[in-house]
Amino acid sequence: MDLLLLKTLHLAGVFALFASLGATMLAGSKAKSASMLHGISLVLILLIGFAMLGKPTPMHWWKVKLGLWLFIGVAPVLAKRKLLAPWMVFALCLAAATAAAYLGLRKPF
Ligand code: HEM
Repeated sequence: MDLLLLKTLHLAGVFALFASLGATMLAGSKAKSASMLHGISLVLILLIGFAMLGKPTPMHWWKVKLGLWLFIGVAPVLAKRKLLAPWMVFALCLAAATAAAYLGLRKPF
């Protein structure tokens, strides 16, 4: 598939991810649709990420992105178990996504 189309869809996944995190972490939504959007957008981001990587690559930055992706995936549990304030979870997810964007754009290693 066209790389630009894949990038656009990767970003669409990120938009949906943060819509869901905004609803659950900032607005306190318990709606099932919000947590479903969290899971669906994460899967979309991951699948399209690997589709863009294509053939096995000698680079390593994407492994760090995988860790950041995993963190954003489990982070809502930190708020659910009252280990962190929801706004703090949101801020950490935003920082993780910023780092993921930097890695995707710069591909430093
Ligand atoms: C929530 C986590 C993630 C965020 C916020 C994120 C964000 C981004 C952004 C902003 C870009 C730049 C798009 C552009 O070039 O205009 C990008 C590119 C990319 N990302 Fe992600 N990403 C995430 C997770 C992943 C994962 C898990 C993978 C791999 C399994 C991945 C693989 C890639 C690849 C291959 C590119 C394209 C690099 C290129 O060839 O230009 N991303 N990502």
